Amino acid sequence: MAAYGLITGWGKYLPRRVLTNEELEKMVDTSDEWIASRTGIRERRIVADDETVSTMAVEAGKRALEVAHLAPSSLDLIIVGTNSPDRLVPGSAFLVQHAIGATKAAAFDIAAGCSSFIHALATAYQFISSGAYENILVVGSDAVSRYINWEDRGTCILFGDGAGAVVVQAKGVASDMLQFLLGSDGGGADLLYVPGVCDRTTGTPPNGHHVIMEGREVFKFAVTTMAEASRQVVKDAGLQISDIDLFIPHQANDRIIQAAARSLGIPSEKVFVNLEHYGNLSAASPAVALCEAVEQGRLKAGDLVILVAFGAGLSWAAMVLRWQPLASKEKV
Ligand code: ACO
Repeated sequence: MAAYGLITGWGKYLPRRVLTNEELEKMVDTSDEWIASRTGIRERRIVADDETVSTMAVEAGKRALEVAHLAPSSLDLIIVGTNSPDRLVPGSAFLVQHAIGATKAAAFDIAAGCSSFIHALATAYQFISSGAYENILVVGSDAVSRYINWEDRGTCILFGDGAGAVVVQAKGVASDMLQFLLGSDGGGADLLYVPGVCDRTTGTPPNGHHVIMEGREVFKFAVTTMAEASRQVVKDAGLQISDIDLFIPHQANDRIIQAAARSLGIPSEKVFVNLEHYGNLSAASPAVALCEAVEQGRLKAGDLVILVAFGAGLSWAAMVLRWQPLASKEKV
């Protein structure tokens, strides 16, 4: 795959409010022991009343632009991957565009469940490869807590809020993105969804717009799909799983992550996990994980990385990157 575009900046934003498993014990019939052993999650962040997907995206985006040494006015495009946009219309990307002063940027959202950020990132690389744009801000931001039924112990323990962002730039050199793969199976749309106001089949939901999920089915789909998508994208890139230096999977459930890694034969020291503190950040998950992997020094120049996610849709997405951090030192 001949491609251009390099990630030159990264940033994240997590709301201040921490919701612990112990607090959830007081809200629903659950326990810290159950949540930690079944999911690996200990705490998650929850948006304040005045925070939204766009306000979190703005913070993460500004940090990514700082790392890239890029002025907002140089952006050609902003793509926000999200499932909990501030408003139904317009997309949150427009609010981000205005708030950061990206005066010449186009903007749109992508909604592909927890795979949204990787869909958005793949889209950004296409605009750069085609020569259409040079500087793109890609954000994954979600405030799924807004959709949570806080009486449903099967879902309220899983999710947290946050945003992650990267800047992708044309640098006239081969891309750090070696291969991507996107997939969908709308036949599984009823396994995980939030009823919409415009859905004539469901009408106005009697209990509000809450996450509805068949946990066990999603679990099985997740393990199989993350492993298969990773195997395929690595093969398509002409590589082998043993070549991979860091596996950054969607942070939904540690059991899903470990089962997928085991199936792929990836040792635990090559698996990035941060869900203990954040839970499932939905579209923000792979973006925040990538950002933290860089911040923690888990990636060095030339390292091969798999980003992989699954989610509502059903959707899945995987990408192989050859990390090139030196690109961030080049000024535009
Ligand atoms: N606390 C205590 N008990 C619970 C809880 C809880 N929070 N939740 C469920 N249980 C109970 C169930 O009622 C059930 O009890 P029963 O046997 O008496 O019926 C028992 O625990 C086992 O339930 P399971 O659903 O089989 O539990 P499982 O081990 O599958 O864990 C979980 C449930 C954590 C939801 C798991 O299925 C999972 O992680 N699924 C994937 C979900 C996911 O990743 N969703 C996000 C997708 S990404 C996106 O696009 C948003």
